[in-house]
Amino acid sequence: MNRKFVVATNNAHKVEEFKKILGPLGIECVSLKELRIECEAEETGATFGENAYIKARAVYELCKLPTVADDSGICVDALDGAPGIYSARYGGEGYDDAGRMELLLKNMERQQNRAAHFTSAICCVLDENTVLQTEGYVYGQLTREPRGTNGFGYDPIFLPDGYGKTTAEMEGEAKNAISHRGNALRELAKKLKEYYHADANQ
Ligand code: IMP
Repeated sequence: MNRKFVVATNNAHKVEEFKKILGPLGIECVSLKELRIECEAEETGATFGENAYIKARAVYELCKLPTVADDSGICVDALDGAPGIYSARYGGEGYDDAGRMELLLKNMERQQNRAAHFTSAICCVLDENTVLQTEGYVYGQLTREPRGTNGFGYDPIFLPDGYGKTTAEMEGEAKNAISHRGNALRELAKKLKEYYHADANQ
């Protein structure tokens, strides 16, 4: 596969992960910054999938190029799945990544059940009528204190099952190999292969 996709995100960490995960699969990713496109679509969806679609569609309408977007977040069992789709906005305005992490740890202070997972919904708008969607997950536990400086967001407090390290203590490649975004993007690559194969045979 030799294809080029616009990545509909302003998050430099996500762009980096998209490039590292999809590059070896034959998909070149170009960021909004590289294309000098400004787009901040309002996330009005009720699910990760709906928000990923909103973001991908908004950028596709601006550039008419195949576009891929992610909507993701951390879902905590003891909090009935919160922050979920509100992960980037947890606590409201005035919080940065570190503040949101602290707030989550505070809200989890008395909880023994630390189970949590990340979800990533990927939406790929190929043309006016063709949309591919996938989801990926990684399951684990919340720590009691932040550990590590790699990654972004809630990585310092997320301990994936079966690893003795938070995703912020892992190297990028190790995180991508097991992450929600890695799993969803590898699923997308499979769907794209099938789609282009079927298209070539028509
Ligand atoms: P989005 O840009 O609306 O999809 O927001 C996703 C939010 O979920 C981010 O701002 C992070 O807080 C959190 N998040 C998503 N993926 C990750 C990850 O891989 N590591 C840590 N936090 C993440």
